[in-house]
Amino acid sequence: MPKPLHDFLKQAQRIVVFTGAGLSAESGVPTFRDAQTSLWTWYSLEDLATPEGFVKNPRLVWEWHVWLRKLIDSAHPNPAHRVIAWMEELLPEVTVITQNVDGLHQRAGSQNIIELHGNIQRTRCFNEGYVVGDWEKTEEIPPKCSVCGGYLRPDVVWYNEAIPEDAWLAASHSVRHCEVFITIGSSGLVYPATELCNLALASNAKVIQINPRVTPLDAHASINLRGKAGQIMPKWVLEIWGGQI
Ligand code: OAD
Repeated sequence: MPKPLHDFLKQAQRIVVFTGAGLSAESGVPTFRDAQTSLWTWYSLEDLATPEGFVKNPRLVWEWHVWLRKLIDSAHPNPAHRVIAWMEELLPEVTVITQNVDGLHQRAGSQNIIELHGNIQRTRCFNEGYVVGDWEKTEEIPPKCSVCGGYLRPDVVWYNEAIPEDAWLAASHSVRHCEVFITIGSSGLVYPATELCNLALASNAKVIQINPRVTPLDAHASINLRGKAGQIMPKWVLEIWGGQI
């Protein structure tokens, strides 16, 4: 790493860590777009992760999310999740903005987290939108909301749905004011990744990318660290901030 960039990072006060599915790949949670191992290689996105798909076949969509939630429940945070939580304890201001719905940042100990795509552990009413903590257990799949009788659904953002406004406002504020934007495990191909990366660049943040593959951001990042997050992050964080840690 060039010394000026190293020195800049070491002094930085406000850091955003932006994460995508690749961060949890080493925890055994499949990504979306990696050939062979991705979620959409086996299933159709339109059928399983859109409001239209849910209306068409609510049982299929509910059961698929139950399957994914069980897989996530049996997964554990990997070294990259843990190092990100560690950064928050030791550096002045670290904000995690994640596209992941798996809650592994929380389980690793991060606290300052903005979830752009919701969390698969929560459930909400499909009709009215409010989060539901409990419901009557019947044979029905999906279960019904005890208030309005509509279907319940996972509290995640599907395609063709908007990111919750409070999450978006908080995320864009943090990115606009950060000095360093570290993007890890995101293909950067879809909104909001494209938007937040562009915002970081426009705000003159140093952009660091960690990904085993080339992405559209490669040409714009201050540095591209090629490899798996769980292997790169612990070494890299120690290299930069080791003196303070
Ligand atoms: P993608 O599946 O599009 O991209 C995963 C990225 O992680 C790829 O660029 C991989 O090269 C990289 N990757 C794989 N293994 C890695 C590892 N061990 N360490 C670091 N990087 C690794 O996932 P996202 O960019 O998160 O949205 O996708 C964005 C959104 O599209 C998701 O949140 C989801 C999806 O549709 C919704 O569900 C609304």
